[in-house]
Amino acid sequence: MKKALITGIAGQDGSYLTEFLLSKGYEVHGVVRRISIEDTEHKLKNIQHLLGKIKLHVASLDNVLSLIKIVKDILPDECYHLAASSFVSYSFEDEISILNNNVNSTHYLLAALKEFSPRCRVYFAGTSEMFGNVIHSPQDESTPYNPRSIYGISKVASYHLVKNYREQYKMFACSGILYNHESPRRGYEFVTRKIVSSAVKIKLGLQETLSLGNLDANRDWGYAPDYVRAMWLMLQNDAPGDYVVATGETHSVREFVNAAFSALGLDYQNHVAVDHNLFRPMENVTLCGNPAKAVAKLGWSRTKTFPEIVEEMINSELSLLKKGTA
Ligand code: GDD
Repeated sequence: MKKALITGIAGQDGSYLTEFLLSKGYEVHGVVRRISIEDTEHKLKNIQHLLGKIKLHVASLDNVLSLIKIVKDILPDECYHLAASSFVSYSFEDEISILNNNVNSTHYLLAALKEFSPRCRVYFAGTSEMFGNVIHSPQDESTPYNPRSIYGISKVASYHLVKNYREQYKMFACSGILYNHESPRRGYEFVTRKIVSSAVKIKLGLQETLSLGNLDANRDWGYAPDYVRAMWLMLQNDAPGDYVVATGETHSVREFVNAAFSALGLDYQNHVAVDHNLFRPMENVTLCGNPAKAVAKLGWSRTKTFPEIVEEMINSELSLLKKGTA
């Protein structure tokens, strides 16, 4: 039985990846913070239904000794490093700790694996934010990085650590350069969940208006379960590498808002207000990924379209709110 270690197991991607790996017969281990174990109802809500099937290890990723202990105890075959401060807006407010935490956790994990489980295959969660202020679109694996947020900078630095461990120490280490990927498990701070949650509350008479930032920002939005499958495929390949995972299609925030409100029989223009405080600095370029390498080398493809993702998120939110659990 293969053993997988996941950091960030309780997030959107961690939870889908856990389900996917369990379905493949893996023994799944996850790293969580002490506070999560003490408040499983809220902090582990995405993996509540999996708790009897996985092993959780309490550690802080900024403590290399605790990571070494976990790696030595498990000796994982595969490690998926998903944990990071991942909300771009916060990274404008808390530069120093976000940069330190995101880079150091990647470094500590790579160093622990190199010493104690060197044949472990490693996946690192990179992001389209590494491209930042790009000069052309779509982007692919050869597009230069030009990050424009501390979050993006932390991911570029981590990407180079991963590449260095691959080339210098011959570890099987891959970076997935993932574009936005959504699902009913998306956190409420991200725009798609914020829109869906508010649209449903407005429909049910629980909220009056929704304030958003730039409605004309464009994103390449895919479906999270498809993206965790790409992570796994990277580690099953003959050789390690880096892959863009994206749909190759962009939609504006306005299109997402329109689709969500229309699905509920509402006109968004009657409910949405633009708040210039929610605009991001230096966000004037279209992030759109070309997944041709992942398609050709991994046989990856997506299963859901943009309207289907919006529909699934709306239906899930409606049932959560009606059950009183949102
Ligand atoms: N969050 C948020 N809230 N975003 C808004 C709002 C708002 O009220 N109004 C407009 N937006 C715009 C943002 O400016 C951005 O252009 C877009 O909506 C998406 O924002 P987020 O959903 O917060 O995601 P993100 O694109 O910044 O980052 C996500 O995707 C990256 C991969 O491409 C995160 O998952 C990152 O961790 C990930 O790396």
